[in-house]
Amino acid sequence: MIVLGIETSCDETSAAVVAADRTILSNVVFSQIADHRPYGGVVPEIAARAHLKHLPSLIRQALDEAGLGLDDISAVAATGGPGLIGGVMVGVMVAKAIAAVRGLPFLAVNHLEGHALTARLTDDLPFPYLLLLVSGGHSQLLSVEGVGRYRRLGTTIDDAVGEAFDKVAKMLGLGYPGGPLVERAACDGDPRRFDLPRPMAGRPGCDFSFSGLKTAVRQRLDALGPGPLSERDAADLAASFQAAVADSIADRTGRAIALFREAHPRGGALVVAGGVAANAMLRDRLTTTAAAAGLPFVAPPSKLCTDNAAMIAWAGIERLHLGLQDDLGFAPRPRWPLDPSASPAIGAGVKA
Ligand code: KG4
Ligand code: ZN
Repeated sequence: MIVLGIETSCDETSAAVVAADRTILSNVVFSQIADHRPYGGVVPEIAARAHLKHLPSLIRQALDEAGLGLDDISAVAATGGPGLIGGVMVGVMVAKAIAAVRGLPFLAVNHLEGHALTARLTDDLPFPYLLLLVSGGHSQLLSVEGVGRYRRLGTTIDDAVGEAFDKVAKMLGLGYPGGPLVERAACDGDPRRFDLPRPMAGRPGCDFSFSGLKTAVRQRLDALGPGPLSERDAADLAASFQAAVADSIADRTGRAIALFREAHPRGGALVVAGGVAANAMLRDRLTTTAAAAGLPFVAPPSKLCTDNAAMIAWAGIERLHLGLQDDLGFAPRPRWPLDPSASPAIGAGVKA
């Protein structure tokens, strides 16, 4: 079984070909960052148009790199949500067209399920496991019980962590997208110079909050006075912010591990996914947190943690194995929680 995957929910246009034996035959990702950089963030209308422009040639490239034609494909899987709806519509429409013309099964994949199941593609991980999903649109802790079976243990009550990285980068004049730039600046900085809050640390539950931390960075910045920020100040603030984020996430994750252990006394692992999972310091902290609880720590390679179509193709394969497929009448979904029974968090974003 070989599945063509399509991902268009945010600012990466991606097509991939993945086999049921876990071989990624191709995974082509086109980043639209240059198109959005002048605006300091993703512009939905520009994203949708760029997906439309690039997707057909990316699909061709993905098939070429895999050395296959459409005749060799067993099914087409596309992100069906959640995400910026214009982009999701482009991917779903193209996938449906290929499926209809070729008479292939079509799968509408939940983008978050794509992130959630990546560790099974890369590490053949058995269920259940605890997932920390940290991206530009989401900060969630989920108990992954099976395909389509998720229990949300925590989520953000305001901003997503990636969003906080991007905003702090903007404040420090580092550019866009902020995560990698804050991480680079922080390498030369002193994480103890600025005393920043550790949001939610020590509080009951596993929810996150990053908006207050962002404001605290703004206040420290203002206290430095007017005029251009020195490289030293920017590096120290970036390092102090990154340390506060890592402490906060480690605290929340530690609590989620305890809840996970109550339900699953044996087995399991801590898995990290989403763009922020590329952060080396956060990975280090989580390695320690997991080890302290006796859980293995699984972090897929960075290029499979950020948005990509291989994870969508893989989620499609998992669903096909269960005999699932979707109707061509499927309507793209701007919101699509993995755990529908969890109450919506206050102010939670819709971006994936
Ligand atoms: O998962 P992703 O590629 O797209 C979304 O679905 O949002 O995540 C993108 C987010 C951005 O906010 C970006 O700044 C952040 O991940 N990010 C990082 C790093 N690399 C990317 N944040 C912290 N450290 C990094 N090295
Ligand atoms: Zn994502």
